[in-house]
Amino acid sequence: MKLLEGKVAIVTGAARGIGEAIALKLAEQGAQIAFTYVSDSSAEKAKTLQQKIEALGVKAKAYQSNAADYAASEAFVNDVVKEFGTVDVCVNNAGISKDNLLLRMSPDQWDDVINVNLKSVYNMTKQVIRPMMKARKGSIINMSSIIGIRGNAGQSSYAASKAGIIGFTKSIAHELGSRNVRCNAIAPGFIETDMTHYLKDAGDASKAFLEKIPLGRFGKAEEVADTTLFLASDLSSYITGQVISTCGGLNI
Ligand code: NAI
Repeated sequence: MKLLEGKVAIVTGAARGIGEAIALKLAEQGAQIAFTYVSDSSAEKAKTLQQKIEALGVKAKAYQSNAADYAASEAFVNDVVKEFGTVDVCVNNAGISKDNLLLRMSPDQWDDVINVNLKSVYNMTKQVIRPMMKARKGSIINMSSIIGIRGNAGQSSYAASKAGIIGFTKSIAHELGSRNVRCNAIAPGFIETDMTHYLKDAGDASKAFLEKIPLGRFGKAEEVADTTLFLASDLSSYITGQVISTCGGLNI
């Protein structure tokens, strides 16, 4: 028996990177997948991912939908409920960074990061809790970051958005625990994706990063997907309101 047989999972921002790895991992364990991408340039990748998921023998649908847009998120979740019948798992993965020292950070840079990373989590969670409360079960998984816990120079907007996700996650866990709807966050460390491609080739700086990681290497998207699978499945049925650090020990 697969861990997510018959479940319906949403993954935002899944055309590449961690989101793509999560969509594939949940599908391998039997979940039907509705996932989003935002830009026209990701349409081809999204189509390919949909086909890869279907080849695993489960239903999949790609939606072009901006997670930062409340009305678009509402329309997306309504369509998923119509097409798939319900939502059992929601992975709020979509995220961006627009790094700058505070002295140079423009209001637009600040707003973009807060809207895509934090407001999106409100937009999506507000919609998926209806079918989950009705079914008296559900798992919401929000992608935070080690930067949301420790902060980082040049990343005040990103850190604020990811710390905000942690407060939100704990509040929703309090609000919905009695309905058997769980809400947890993952705080990845440095994971090799397009968002962090600069790290690998950063020479001495790269070595300095690695020295701070007890496991001595950057993480892989699949390793964050493994944590997500755990939180999505009944293996974590008594876990809510937690932040799991998938970071090679960088937080200790
Ligand atoms: P990525 O840049 O490769 O992927 C992010 C995805 O989100 C892209 O597919 C992008 O198109 C999508 N996206 C961006 N804005 C969107 C919007 N408004 N609506 C819907 N989708 C949107 O980044 P990566 O590394 O895969 O990151 C995934 C998540 O993990 C992000 O939330 C990121 O902050 C978080 N994270 C990543 C870490 C890393 O080291 N790569 C470390 C800690 C957290």
